[in-house]
Amino acid sequence: MVDSFSLDSRLLIREFDEDRDLKVVGKLERNCEIETKKGVSIFTSMMDDPLSRIRFYPLHVMLVAELLESRELVGVVRGCIKSMRTPSESLLKIGCILGLRVSPAHRRKGVGLKLVTSVEEWMLRNGAEYAWLATEKNNNASRNLFTNKCKYMSLSSLAIFLHPISVPSKHISKDIKIEKVNLDQAISLYRRTLRAKELYPLDMDAILKEKLNLGTWVSYYKDEGRLNLQAESHEDIITDEITSSWIIFSIWNTCEASKLQLKKSRPLRFLDTTLNHARDKIFPCLRMSVSDSCCRPFGFLFLYGLHGEGDNLGELMESIWRFTSRLGESLKDCRVVITELGFGDPLVNHVPQTSSMSCIDDIWFTKRLSNGDEKDDQVLMKRQIGNVFIDPRDF
Ligand SMILES: CC(C)(COP(=O)(O)OP(=O)(O)OC[C@H]1O[C@@H](n2cnc3c(N)ncnc32)[C@H](O)[C@@H]1OP(=O)(O)O)[C@@H](O)C(=O)NCCC(=O)NCCS
Repeated sequence: MVDSFSLDSRLLIREFDEDRDLKVVGKLERNCEIETKKGVSIFTSMMDDPLSRIRFYPLHVMLVAELLESRELVGVVRGCIKSMRTPSESLLKIGCILGLRVSPAHRRKGVGLKLVTSVEEWMLRNGAEYAWLATEKNNNASRNLFTNKCKYMSLSSLAIFLHPISVPSKHISKDIKIEKVNLDQAISLYRRTLRAKELYPLDMDAILKEKLNLGTWVSYYKDEGRLNLQAESHEDIITDEITSSWIIFSIWNTCEASKLQLKKSRPLRFLDTTLNHARDKIFPCLRMSVSDSCCRPFGFLFLYGLHGEGDNLGELMESIWRFTSRLGESLKDCRVVITELGFGDPLVNHVPQTSSMSCIDDIWFTKRLSNGDEKDDQVLMKRQIGNVFIDPRDF
């Protein structure tokens, strides 16, 4: 049990200061590496930029916990805020908690709780109505902290699909065309297709303009028609008369922002599930040998913004995975293709079921922060997410 009064007088929660804290935060995060059963640890290399996971959000913060007496940094948390829209056109401001870490020597003293309440206060001050985070199923410390102490509810029903880029990928069927669309076309296509989602970001155009976004493509059957890319109105690019089955998708290149690295670590003394988010669940699914993968950091391509229409989507989905794997083969240190879909997404049943495809349940937690209009609770608090847009910036 934590003595919060004495902790308050010994601990300062303040904003990360790049000049002062950069090295120390790097060290702290390395101390929180995740040990796997094979005696290696997973380390997310931020490429010397601890803000790399949040800087794509217009509103973001990184807080550190500092012991007043020794000035030692003992914990860190990141937060960001995004605006999302629901099908009823409601606007929701949602805060996401990312990268919570407390140094092992200072755990179970209330530091984690203090960091979470501080980042929630920052979110509230900046207008967030809900807070969200993802954590690993077996991470008892984190689950207890968020559900017992901070009163978050779990939201199930998201699945992460991973496919290693280890072998040359198969050819794409000659019957299928995969065509890149330009930024304006992508924006207007998403303006139309995102409306099918229960929740989607308001700043899709900003996501598409980010340097990590490699582009947007449309996949369709050649003999079912063609894209009308010359259409005067972007609304007319794809109409039912032009092509009956098609999928739009975009690709985010995480290799440029952060990389996963596996390191040989101490022999495993206990299974400490200190996972941060989905990226930390990736290694077990890669089926790479430890000696293979310990050497150098690697990144992945994230398939996002997937939306399909028509009856014949299976082969199109396969072609998209092959296309993305091929793209990954040409990128330095890229080893995996990943996507995440809600179970209610019509495309979830069309993800290729090959022996090298892995699927992980992703558990999200949420809580209402403000006392505002509760009608939107139906979307966020009903404990199930059906068909939502998965933000590539969250990965
Ligand atoms: C999760 C983590 C941040 C908790 O930090 P902490 O400073 O130890 O947490 P606190 O001392 O504030 O604990 C608050 C509550 O969380 C729960 N909790 C914390 N550690 C726990 C553990 N090892 N086992 C079970 N419950 C635990 C308890 O309910 C605790 O309250 P109590 O001590 O009154 O029982 C820390 O263990 C950590 O850095 N883990 C590695 C990274 C990680 O998993 N981050 C979370 C990703 S979302």
